[in-house]
Amino acid sequence: MDIHTNIPLKNYLTMKIGGNARFMTEVHSREELAAVCENAKSKNIPIFIIGGGSNVIARDEGYEGLVIRIRIPGFEIISEDDSSTTIRIGAGENWDSVVKRSVDMKLSGIEAMSGIPGTAGATPIQNVGAYGQEIADTLQSLEAYDLETKSFVTMQNSECGFSYRDSIFRSSSAGRYIITSITIVLSKYMPKPPFYDSLQRYLDEKQIKIFTPDIIRNTVLEIRKDKLPDPAVQPSAGSFFKNAIVDKWQAEQLKPSYPDMPMFEMADGRFKIPTGWLIEKTGLKGQLINGMRISPNNALVLINESAHSYDELAKARDEITIKIRDMFRIQIEQEPLEM
Ligand code: EPU
Repeated sequence: MDIHTNIPLKNYLTMKIGGNARFMTEVHSREELAAVCENAKSKNIPIFIIGGGSNVIARDEGYEGLVIRIRIPGFEIISEDDSSTTIRIGAGENWDSVVKRSVDMKLSGIEAMSGIPGTAGATPIQNVGAYGQEIADTLQSLEAYDLETKSFVTMQNSECGFSYRDSIFRSSSAGRYIITSITIVLSKYMPKPPFYDSLQRYLDEKQIKIFTPDIIRNTVLEIRKDKLPDPAVQPSAGSFFKNAIVDKWQAEQLKPSYPDMPMFEMADGRFKIPTGWLIEKTGLKGQLINGMRISPNNALVLINESAHSYDELAKARDEITIKIRDMFRIQIEQEPLEM
């Protein structure tokens, strides 16, 4: 396999910002991955993994190590019964192609996660989710290369530490495992209403009353077209911030001052507040800060209109974060990972 040197990261990341990777390579199999990792580890070269590059931000100084692009293919039905089909998917598969294939097979479980850029292997890292589904709902297990023990491990769903936009792969075990495949269980039954708020509203408006995986996929693609920029046309990293999670006491304190603030109670009793709403209230929606446009269609998305450096992006991010902290006493968090 070829190892390239001094490669501009901005060519591989959808935000189109970032300096050079000292080394970069692509791997197409588990064996190739294990070999390249052992080689790098023996030389003490740090490793960073990218899939589609749509949820990673690089700094101007770049990455003084080896960036591995995972291209491991695979889409294999491993078992099936009357109600479900279990599929193992190579980490390098394009996620939306996987969704399309499963929908074509009339399976449900990931159809609402249509149109999300990136690769299948990246979905567990931040527990990717959209329109009421998240990968934690369908993931049975995954296989990963463990850089510490230099061996492949199988991890069950319960071992991944999934929560809202989080898993052990970006928290307690960050940098330790490299996902090589995911195994998901999809249902042969039709998707059932009620659906996620904005999806349900759209279905109602269009008077859609039959819900097949295909209809849900197409509806989500329609909604996304207006709300989320196509990274191939407008550089961005999707949602740039996570939604805010606050304790019950804080939600109760905010309610009288902002009676129209949307709040969703979570299973653990805390409340999720849409950061897009908070940003909109600061008046920043649609504005341009240091070349970064706060999307006029969705305040959670930062579009790189003319920024060339991480510093410009960071200044825009910090300005938004501070405004929200001052106005609501809420500390919002960046969603994309940083190299
Ligand atoms: N809102 C506003 N103004 C805005 C944007 C949102 O007021 O400019 C409020 C509205 O009240 C709206 C609520 O936020 O009802 C929720 O908005 P939406 O349904 O568009 O979703 P989101 O919370 O902004 C999350 C995910 C998206 C995912 C959508 C749809 C996160 C960080 N983002 O966004 O995921 O597509 O839900 O399910 O959880 C991503 O992670 O990159 C991503 C695009």
